[in-house]
Amino acid sequence: MLESLESARYETIPNDLEPLWMPFTANRQFKSAPRMLVAAEGMHYTTADSRQILDATSGLWCVNCGHARKEITEAVSAQVGRLEYGPGFQMGHPASFEFAARLAALAPGDLDHVFLTNSGSESADTALKIALAYHNISDNASRTRLIGREKGYHGVGFGGIANNRKYFGSAFPGVDHLPHTHSLEHNAFNKGQPEWGGHLADDLERLVALHDASTIAAVIVEPMAGSAGVILPPKGYLKRLREICDTHGILLIFDEVITGFGRLGDSFAAERFGVLPDIMTLAKGLTNAAVPMGAVLVRKHIYDAFMNGPDNAIELFHGSGHPVACAAGHAALDIYLNEGLFERAAELESYWIDAAFSLKDHAHVIDIRAMGLVGAVELEPIEGKPTARAFDAFLKCYERGVLIRTTGDIIALSPPLIVEKNQIDQIFDTIGGVLKEAA
Ligand SMILES: Cc1ncc(COP(=O)(O)O)c(C=O)c1O
Repeated sequence: MLESLESARYETIPNDLEPLWMPFTANRQFKSAPRMLVAAEGMHYTTADSRQILDATSGLWCVNCGHARKEITEAVSAQVGRLEYGPGFQMGHPASFEFAARLAALAPGDLDHVFLTNSGSESADTALKIALAYHNISDNASRTRLIGREKGYHGVGFGGIANNRKYFGSAFPGVDHLPHTHSLEHNAFNKGQPEWGGHLADDLERLVALHDASTIAAVIVEPMAGSAGVILPPKGYLKRLREICDTHGILLIFDEVITGFGRLGDSFAAERFGVLPDIMTLAKGLTNAAVPMGAVLVRKHIYDAFMNGPDNAIELFHGSGHPVACAAGHAALDIYLNEGLFERAAELESYWIDAAFSLKDHAHVIDIRAMGLVGAVELEPIEGKPTARAFDAFLKCYERGVLIRTTGDIIALSPPLIVEKNQIDQIFDTIGGVLKEAA
């Protein structure tokens, strides 16, 4: 009896939806017609009305191994039973050290020290703070300015996309931004990395001339802007950023919260594009999102700079690293490596891109972008009703059993890396059908 009551609590639509203020959601619209997910397995969600929904978004760019992986469930429940929590301050637990060692081995170059956090947002904040602290302890305390990029999204902490800036923008002074690289005029329907836009990295030289290098701590970019709608880096862009940062002693931070763990057909975007940042932030696919966790990887010279002073002094007043999240991380890494999921994403890339481009001639499609197992279909906004066209497509696809994600008028897709070809077809056939009907 108790068990069935428990089960009912999680499998039906609750009577009162009002108290929960939903994140990043049109609360009133949702509460008038709730879309409630109650279970998941493999590539599919189950809804409260027992429908199967194909997940074309890996949850929120995070369930890269597919849903409800037995290995992760077992590792998490074993860890909860063994050591559900241990303080991370002045104490340790084996899973975090072993996990850090595996991550360091997987990461490119000498990104070989790992700071654990609780989310991608926290990773971004921590990375920026480490950059500030690094300059501080390296006798460069005047380097306090942080440079982001327009349309960047680094979570719910510092800075972010337009809506966040509108509400909270001035809370974080001393920042500047590079221009974004999204251009329909030059790059629409380009397959792969855009030819145009590499020169936009040179804007960093302008910011250096404006503020002086001695005031700039770090540049943070997503190697591929995800939440802004899958904006691929133009050819040469990231290399140029690296060169300018090197010239002026500025730290380069890659936010790989979305691009890490196979999304672009390689372990990390840094590998795919052959550019090594000084600091890399991770989350999402890190644990397959079974338990929230983030990580900040830093290069050896950054870690070493902190390892000074008396042995008993705490070097950085910051951090976390939950044992249960580490157990999920280990199990997710096992799946990625044992099943070759990064390679799988690379193998499926051309099929994925062709399927995405099959929507090219649909009415109101103004751009398609794709790489690895990530893609975007950009729609022409309805005059006076921005976002309405894509949101309508989102609702209709959901009715037809496919979960897509929209950002503005862009449909963003990022299925679990276990997706099959027939499921890729289903994703694009469903979107195509919806667009045709709405035309
Ligand atoms: C690039 C990037 N950084 C950071 C975040 C924030 O991650 P989290 O939701 O784990 O805080 C996101 C979330 O989508 C992201 O896309």
